[in-house]
Amino acid sequence: MDWLNGFDGRIENDVPLAPLTWFGVGGPAKHVVSPRGEAQLADLMRRADAMGLPLAVLGGGANVLVSDDGVNGVVVRLDDDAFTRIDVAGEYLTAGGGVDLMTLCNRCVWEGMAGLECLAGIPGTVGGAIRMNAGGRFGEISNCIEWVRVMRPGGTIETLRRDQCGFGYRHSRLGSAVVLAVRFRLQREPPDEVAVRYREYWTYKKRSQPLSACSAGCVFKNPPGESAGRLIDGAGLKGTHRGRARVSEHHANFIVADSGATASDVLQLVEHIRDVVWKKSGIKLELEIEVW
Ligand code: EPU
Repeated sequence: MDWLNGFDGRIENDVPLAPLTWFGVGGPAKHVVSPRGEAQLADLMRRADAMGLPLAVLGGGANVLVSDDGVNGVVVRLDDDAFTRIDVAGEYLTAGGGVDLMTLCNRCVWEGMAGLECLAGIPGTVGGAIRMNAGGRFGEISNCIEWVRVMRPGGTIETLRRDQCGFGYRHSRLGSAVVLAVRFRLQREPPDEVAVRYREYWTYKKRSQPLSACSAGCVFKNPPGESAGRLIDGAGLKGTHRGRARVSEHHANFIVADSGATASDVLQLVEHIRDVVWKKSGIKLELEIEVW
């Protein structure tokens, strides 16, 4: 803890991470820190960098599987007001990295701003969604980005244009940079019309995915020209389980962690799915979720 001496932000030690993630499994983090602004975050990043300690931002915990041993490093939460602001000016909307995606979507409807409807029903925060270019069949968050402001491990701040972020399918090249804020360029439309599309996309998701179960959304990326869900379903894996983790009957690319499940159950099931799909179709499934 010496390396945090004199650090002024909120620090909690040995924090169970399971309740902070959608899977609801996994062990504790050694430190969970909530900096009260960019200067404190820079201070924290410099200290962690100097110690060689890994630092990871936990957004909505929607796409992360925490291992049963937990995280032996620093978990950062961007829940301070400094990171959760939304500002609107004309057709531009600027959102902090810690803004909840549902709050962002609601604000877009309220303001009558179109372009981010593809985020309907996707849990998480703006920072997490940017890092992995969240989206689905209706589009990706990167489509309407003007710039992304990030902090690098040494605490330096950079503003990156969209084409400097290396966006691809469920991918960016932001690496260990922390997303501070994002500016979107959206289209002005009557709020009612924006709301109709949000409702339509949300209904599609609700019909096709087990949104109320403990899961982290799609577990595997779709292989080029294929659907991971269809491959897993086609391999007859729906309902297959390891311990208390099972392949959803509703959408085969979702793993549901039933009460009492461990991260190890989920990981064993992940390996089993990969193995069976590889043997049946010769396709290697790649994880979409992050394992901590
Ligand atoms: N399918 C099956 N069986 C299943 C699931 C799907 O046969 O159990 C078939 C469907 O019938 C459809 C095809 O596979 O023909 C694709 O399914 P779907 O429309 O559900 O889309 P997806 O490719 O599985 C992607 C994103 C989702 C996003 C949806 C909707 C990935 C890995 N997944 O799913 O994102 O919600 O589109 O926009 O890109 C996530 O990223 O966590 C996530 C859930």
